[in-house]
Amino acid sequence: MTTRTRNHPAADHRPGPAPITVPLSRPSLSAVERSYVHSALDDGWISGTGGIVTRFEDALSRRIGRTHTIAVANGTMALELALRGLGIGPGDEVVVPAFTFAAPATTVLAVGAVPVLADVDPDTWTLSLHAVRACLTPRTRAVIAVDVLGHPADYDGLRDLGVPVIQDAAEAHGARYRGSPVGGQADVSVFSFHANKAISTGEGGSVSTNSSELADHMRLLANHGMSPQQPYVHEVVGRNFRMTNLTAALGLGQLDRWDELIEARNDVARRYHQRLDPAAYAPRPVAPWATYSCWLHTVTTSPERRPAVLAHLRARGIDARAVWPPLHEQPVLARPGTDCPVARDIARRAFWLPTYAGMPDTDIELVAAALAEATVRK
Ligand SMILES: Cc1ncc(COP(=O)(O)O)c(C=O)c1O
Repeated sequence: MTTRTRNHPAADHRPGPAPITVPLSRPSLSAVERSYVHSALDDGWISGTGGIVTRFEDALSRRIGRTHTIAVANGTMALELALRGLGIGPGDEVVVPAFTFAAPATTVLAVGAVPVLADVDPDTWTLSLHAVRACLTPRTRAVIAVDVLGHPADYDGLRDLGVPVIQDAAEAHGARYRGSPVGGQADVSVFSFHANKAISTGEGGSVSTNSSELADHMRLLANHGMSPQQPYVHEVVGRNFRMTNLTAALGLGQLDRWDELIEARNDVARRYHQRLDPAAYAPRPVAPWATYSCWLHTVTTSPERRPAVLAHLRARGIDARAVWPPLHEQPVLARPGTDCPVARDIARRAFWLPTYAGMPDTDIELVAAALAEATVRK
């Protein structure tokens, strides 16, 4: 099964005439997931608040070293739940990195708060502490740090700022921050399990924390604000953020296969490293304190060459894509006078190569050969 990611193909490489033979991403589903899903179907409880959801939440907490996890419908809802759980709303400011998929910033808008864009560090592509410090005001209520493209943000530095931190680890399953699994840092951390992610439930997300108080509050908000003790008594304005039992069953299978699935993507990255000329296609940088985990293998070239390279790959049936535009250039977020030069530079040079568990050598060879041809053609 082929999954098209929705991560915004840029205008310079819309689908061309050549059929795609090497997709950007595809999920890895096995008999393990099938067996969990069948037992969920046999059980008959297919909505949220089921026993399989609790098993999934507990297994994920163990995996990332957290006390509490709440499974939700997708990563965007997870971010919204984290923000609402911390009481963030109109009049508040939340610092967000300028280089990321847009959800962290648009979710801040969705709760009525103001996203303040901070530039990223050229050595990690994650939030620059210096830039965050310059964004802090008396109205700053939180920082969302994104472990962008499998690389953790600098949590020790962020913790010292004295503002609550939300960790968006949507793209970083399996990565480590100074030896600890990503998802265990910050006041609250969030995953996405979208079909293009290393651990996938099709659509899905989670929020984790070590604070019982925050976890209880987020559970309340995620379940219609309904008292756990008194059904149909609504204590606060809540919504339905819940993950279904069927989705959690898929997730339990993926959690059983966590090491295998993470290793399979890192293996794709290693095989690209062996075949690509780093002078032509430099891989994303990794800090010495970080254990990177590959989501989509990302390389850079010059902004002038990137459109031609992508067009050449597309003509060979390879679904490589430019990374997201920087957030300060997104129509919904642009504010006059804001510039984040590092984010802008990365966004103009970087692109993703097809990456998925079990990607055959023949496909990696095809991509590497097309990239080498594109170099010669310059
Ligand atoms: C950094 C980041 N945050 C949040 C999300 C949103 O997750 P979802 O697509 O599950 O809503 C994504 C999705 O790709 C993401 O990359």
